[in-house]
Amino acid sequence: MPKWLKDAVFYEIYPQSFYDTNGDGIGDFNGIIEKLDYIKSLGCNALWINPCYDSPFKDAGYDVRDYKKVAPRYGTNSDLYRLFGEAHRRGMHVLLDLVPGHTSEEHAWFLESQKAGKNEYSNRYVWTNVAFQPAKGFPYIGGESERDGVYLLNFFKCQPALNYGFQRCEEDWQLPPDHPDCIATREAMKDVMRFWLDHGCDGFRVDMAGSLVKNDDEKKTGTSALWKNVREMLDEEYPEAAMVSEWNEPMAAINQGGFHMDFFLNGKDNGYTTLLRDYESGEDNSFFRKDGKGDITRFLEEYVPRYMATKENGYYCLLTCNHDTMRPKYNLDDTELKIAYAFLFTMPGVPYLYYGDEIGMRYLDIPTKEGGYARTGSRTPMQWNDGKNAGFSTCPADALYLPVDTAADAPNVAAQEADADSLLNTVRTLLSLRHEQEDLQADAEFEVLYAESGKLPFVYRRGDLLLTLNPSAERVSAPVAVTGKEKKLLFSIGSGEINSGEITLEPQSFLVWK
Ligand code: GLC
Ligand code: CA
Repeated sequence: MPKWLKDAVFYEIYPQSFYDTNGDGIGDFNGIIEKLDYIKSLGCNALWINPCYDSPFKDAGYDVRDYKKVAPRYGTNSDLYRLFGEAHRRGMHVLLDLVPGHTSEEHAWFLESQKAGKNEYSNRYVWTNVAFQPAKGFPYIGGESERDGVYLLNFFKCQPALNYGFQRCEEDWQLPPDHPDCIATREAMKDVMRFWLDHGCDGFRVDMAGSLVKNDDEKKTGTSALWKNVREMLDEEYPEAAMVSEWNEPMAAINQGGFHMDFFLNGKDNGYTTLLRDYESGEDNSFFRKDGKGDITRFLEEYVPRYMATKENGYYCLLTCNHDTMRPKYNLDDTELKIAYAFLFTMPGVPYLYYGDEIGMRYLDIPTKEGGYARTGSRTPMQWNDGKNAGFSTCPADALYLPVDTAADAPNVAAQEADADSLLNTVRTLLSLRHEQEDLQADAEFEVLYAESGKLPFVYRRGDLLLTLNPSAERVSAPVAVTGKEKKLLFSIGSGEINSGEITLEPQSFLVWK
């Protein structure tokens, strides 16, 4: 386990929208380098950068055309190596986004694989034997190649699936995971990882990590065995490299696959979604709404068993948002966000902050870009100040990668820096508390002390610290087995008190006691 993860706090950067230094309207590596001190000042000491490789950008870069070359619009490979160095100089770490499940249809491997003549790459992707033979049960494309067969897709039409084999082979075109050509795909991906790790990268966020071996069983035996093999390579060659999976099955990802971290991702009505985004039904019952129904047990029912089952092996991680999700500002105001972040940043595991969430950037209702569709509104340019294009770029507004939020009250970094009580400065205070108190870090103990369905507050323990939380507009109280005298207040939003075994919290409050 890389030791640095214990006190890591990640900042996710969507590179095209972070900071543009050459006025072409698109964020770049130099922009990230210029803003490293800002990121560090927030208390974030690690980055996850969305795919920045050469790509036709039909899925914002998740359609990789060359795994070892960066997209020219972001700079050169040397710029990225310099970014690694500048981050390390500041005690920060950088994860790149590894997209192992599929490539772009323009990747050189795929162009070879499409050829009629058998070659080294024929089985790098999954093909049926005849162009008129459908790939039953899978999305596929036929009629595009000189090769006689149809090929499987992993996501969009532009993303043919790489071939790691089938756990249960049901058709003659399906190869087992231990077929030499499937092993060759895995080894090719390890080669990509080594390439970046050798140049100073500190690990990877792994896209669709659970999708590699097809027809896998319930326990994900095939896919997790593949990742276990990758972990063995890392332990031997790059023991400080870290891996986080986009999987949301920590038992498979962490315990079996050897990922150091897995995300608790949003999903329809799942426990994480009930915290911040429980509005699909039309009524908003998100836990952090001050008028919400306040039921933390919907989250805990899913979180606690998975946390308990995986805590010895890795970290099950919470995030404010990501590039695929509605920004939390969509339905929460800044006070609600402060309490939500206080919770997210004091839970076990490694927290992830999505760029712009520290100032409460909005979700914008805008047309799709590069395969973003509904996700596009969470990917707009970072708002640095109230100048031209919110300080993101000096280009003409119509040359921007995506429009900036032009609302009169659009939040920006400069304004929030100047306000001691801003969301941005609350994030700073919270994260510095986390760095100061080992009991708030990734592996410190966690125990639920008071959580009742339909009731508040929520009270939990991290190591020797007591954390009490009331997102609602009502004053609430609950029995807790501590006396106020022994407890010193370390952090507070709002107020509350502990008296003869009872804790009382004022509306919208979050307190940390020692
Ligand atoms: C993941 C990414 C998403 C992308 C998809 C296909 O879910 O987060 O942005 O479109 O995989 O690669
Ligand atoms: Ca640029």
